[in-house]
Amino acid sequence: MIVGASYAGIQLAASAREFGFDGHIVLLGDEPDAPYHRPPLSKGFLTGSYAEDRLPLRSQAFLEEEKIQWMPCTRAIYIDRERKEVELHDGTRITYDHLALTTGARVRKLDCPGAAHEAVHYLRDLRDARRLAETARTARRAVVIGGGYIGLEAAASLRQQGLEVTVVETELRLLARVASPWLSEFMLRAHTDRGVAFEFGRKVVALHSTVDVCSVELEDGTRLMCDLVVVGIGVVPNTELAADSGLKLAGGIAVDSFARTSDPSIFAAGDCVSFVPYWAPAGMPACRIESVQNANDMAKIAAASIVGRSEPYRALPWFWSDQYDLKLQMAGVNTGFTEFVLRGAVEDRKFSLFYFRGVKLIAVDSINRPQDHMLARKLLANGAQPTPQQLADPDFDLKALANQPVPVAQGVA
Ligand code: NAI
Repeated sequence: MIVGASYAGIQLAASAREFGFDGHIVLLGDEPDAPYHRPPLSKGFLTGSYAEDRLPLRSQAFLEEEKIQWMPCTRAIYIDRERKEVELHDGTRITYDHLALTTGARVRKLDCPGAAHEAVHYLRDLRDARRLAETARTARRAVVIGGGYIGLEAAASLRQQGLEVTVVETELRLLARVASPWLSEFMLRAHTDRGVAFEFGRKVVALHSTVDVCSVELEDGTRLMCDLVVVGIGVVPNTELAADSGLKLAGGIAVDSFARTSDPSIFAAGDCVSFVPYWAPAGMPACRIESVQNANDMAKIAAASIVGRSEPYRALPWFWSDQYDLKLQMAGVNTGFTEFVLRGAVEDRKFSLFYFRGVKLIAVDSINRPQDHMLARKLLANGAQPTPQQLADPDFDLKALANQPVPVAQGVA
């Protein structure tokens, strides 16, 4: 039984079948829509270039062929671990041999007076995206609260549709959770060059509204007039089901490297999960990784554990974001980097940043250099150790290094 029908949920079901699981698979989802691609929601779906019929992750025929019983609009409300039963919102109980929690995360809500006004939008699921796309068609001025992935992708999409856009960010730079200060600055320039305005380092204290105009008040009294507000201030993992049944938590549902929770019959994967990744520097606490890659790859590990194959989770994290004509791709995590090297041409908006912690290459961000990104994923996964001097040399053959067999002992540490 799988609770949560998004990336991790459907991948887990598909992988379990691929790995030979021939029991009954129930996939519970509280949304009415079958699992769908979320990244386009803040990009092409919003600008109208990505049609809704392209969103489903798997076809109905796939679910039928693989005998995956998808139950839409269904919420699990309690796990009775002793009886191995999950209670649904309507009181029904379903028994399980193996339970997987792929409950994901929900948006963090703005908490200030006026935050419930109907001009306020969030962007997490298809219903949010449909409503926002509809409003954006006639809106003229938008305030985006949060300069993270959602905020910037929404800002780019709205700006491309001709809206005036102001982004409000409490930190002093964009994408502070994931990007280096250098990259933050580059992304800021990319947006300001296209006419987006920014307010940094101040909180939103209230939203005021009349019939069709809204203003966003910042803590210094600044008021930003708009007819549309998009809030992208991060997410909260959906851990309540796990917590109520006494599973161990650590900022998310705690799992080991085999996607096993503290109950041997219960597995978990995706945004709701916290774990110590294989690449973590010594002493790094368990963390959550919010990404499509993590949801898919960890779901495969959970499925493998369920069928008794037990493979440890050692996938390299990677992320991407499309804003205007910029394709940002990130491989690895740059936490604690001590230096970085630039390859390519910033003026052509085609370059990569290679991050080192000491002598170790730990992450690579690429802008419009997809080949670098693919090579970076290989280099990082293989634990290859190019030097900063090599990477700074435009003639250095990155491909040859990425394709070199790596001695086992060197591995990924
Ligand atoms: P985020 O954590 O990436 O960014 C949130 C931003 O809001 C941060 O910069 C934070 O400093 C700021 N913030 C927090 N509270 C604020 C406040 N009260 N006022 C103003 N700014 C505030 O989260 P985001 O952008 O909401 O994305 C949600 C989730 O969706 C994340 O899991 C993200 O990874 C995922 N996502 C990933 C994408 C990608 O990989 N391309 C694209 C879109 C979303």
